[in-house]
Amino acid sequence: MKLMIILGIETTCDETGVGIVKDGTKVLASIVASSVVIHQRYGGVVPEAAAREQVRLIIPVTREACHVSGIKCQDVDAVAVAFGPGLLGSLLVGVETAKAMAIVWGKPLVAVNHLMGHVYANWLETPNPKFPLVALIVSGGHTDLILMNDHRKSKWLGGTRDDAAGEAFDKVARVLGLGYPGGPEVEKLATSYQRPETSIKLPRPMIGSDDFDFSFAGLKTAVANLVTRNQRLESSYPEIACEFQKAMIDVLVAKTLRAAKKFGVRSIVVGGGVAANSELRRQMSDVGQRYDIGVFFPPKKLSIDNGAMIATAAYWQRNFVDPLKLQADPGLYFV
Ligand code: KG4
Ligand code: ZN
Repeated sequence: MKLMIILGIETTCDETGVGIVKDGTKVLASIVASSVVIHQRYGGVVPEAAAREQVRLIIPVTREACHVSGIKCQDVDAVAVAFGPGLLGSLLVGVETAKAMAIVWGKPLVAVNHLMGHVYANWLETPNPKFPLVALIVSGGHTDLILMNDHRKSKWLGGTRDDAAGEAFDKVARVLGLGYPGGPEVEKLATSYQRPETSIKLPRPMIGSDDFDFSFAGLKTAVANLVTRNQRLESSYPEIACEFQKAMIDVLVAKTLRAAKKFGVRSIVVGGGVAANSELRRQMSDVGQRYDIGVFFPPKKLSIDNGAMIATAAYWQRNFVDPLKLQADPGLYFV
């Protein structure tokens, strides 16, 4: 089947993303409208408000993506949509819109796991990673390690037992009085701490455990205890942010490397919002160089939720579905 140009839709959380991708690698357009300003007041995503915004935005964002790409919407070769995991109301907007588009335009519909979308952001605009590979997914809701021997052959190795990496960043940001989303704010504060060493020491949970699981709830609580119980002065917040970020990255890098060595992979790919973190990029790349493993990160703006990553995942994975049967699946995981 001719599958050159794919339109991808992403509405799993608070973003409305539509991307148009050629040959699984070239981004012709990626438009993302976020409702984050509405949620900032509450310090987290309000599902009802997110879905209402997505209903309002999905058509204008699709139109804009087609306009930017110079391709008429009905001329794409296929429609792809992230059908889970995510918030039900938000997912329904993207899934039902994609089904309608596929039926009306007479195009195939491709269902994409949102988390695989984050992995496949690494196929956009960069040289393609080589198999076998280990993928680290670090987003607001998930932290997972996956082994991929090919596009359609993947195995889940492990994941977080409690908080996700991005969630821990967001919660620590709140404790330190920073805004939402917390990851970029914590990173900025951590960078402002200029000394090479920190006097504060935080735990590196499960760093040496004989598995591929993670646990970040204890690390987050350790930060909260420092700030509230020990009443650390605000002047020490940059040092706390720096040590927290170090602890998180130490664990993410150690566990990913452990998997990469065990399975003798050729590439490590990192995806999800936390993949935008510069210190994580630097440390993972250093480790890759040391062990001669290619390390891949998506371009920063494609690390966070967007439609282009859904289109490229559809191109490589080709999970065609019947538009009359596809259902949004909030609890979708890896199969
Ligand atoms: O993948 P994503 O856009 O949405 C989900 O699928 O969850 O990830 C959002 C998460 C948020 O928790 C946000 O704080 C985190 O990614 N994040 C970062 C950075 N940029 C975004 N975490 C650390 N450093 C960053 N620069
Ligand atoms: Zn995401």
